[in-house]
Amino acid sequence: MKIRVAVLIGGRGSNMDALLAAARDPAYPAEIVLVLSNNPAASGLATATAAGVPILAIDHRPYKGDRAAHEVAIDAALRAVGVEVVCLAGYMRVLTPFLVGAWAGRILNIHPSLLPAYPGLHTHRRALEAGETQHGCTVHLVTQGVDEGPILAQAVVPVLPDDTEATLAACVLIQEHRLYPAALADFARALRRPLP
Ligand code: GRF
Repeated sequence: MKIRVAVLIGGRGSNMDALLAAARDPAYPAEIVLVLSNNPAASGLATATAAGVPILAIDHRPYKGDRAAHEVAIDAALRAVGVEVVCLAGYMRVLTPFLVGAWAGRILNIHPSLLPAYPGLHTHRRALEAGETQHGCTVHLVTQGVDEGPILAQAVVPVLPDDTEATLAACVLIQEHRLYPAALADFARALRRPLP
């Protein structure tokens, strides 16, 4: 049995697309059963639809700042389709203790830095400004602290002398698209492994 996964996106959804592509392999241990966004205009929703995957937009704006109420609606949508694991992929809202608690140990995120270095935004710019010679991306479990959960996998890229924020971002993104499907596969296989 494949692990049932929902991908939460905020916009472009290129990592979601990489997960969808990996999940087309019959041997892949997870299936993407839902792509969900808080942003009805997220272009990734159209990509998912074109791939034949059910989508749902739950706009946060009508909730007028009641973040927990918005997450109650998301949680209900996930449970309604039997989701077992949630993958955040460019989902730009910080989760409240409600959703993090409800899905503890079952929410993954991809972050464009070698955590614990550079949590938060503008990671490529900050890595360049700090003169790093290595940068990369991390898949981690989501806990209450932003970008703080246990690390599941990382990919390293060299920072080249003539790198700009854009070239470094593009280089890291290529690794993100490789790392996230691999990390989800490992995670799904571990979940399915019978207890000794
Ligand atoms: C990626 O760089 C990811 O690491 C970060 O947000 C970006 C999302 O890009 N969390 P995409 O929507 O997957 O193309």
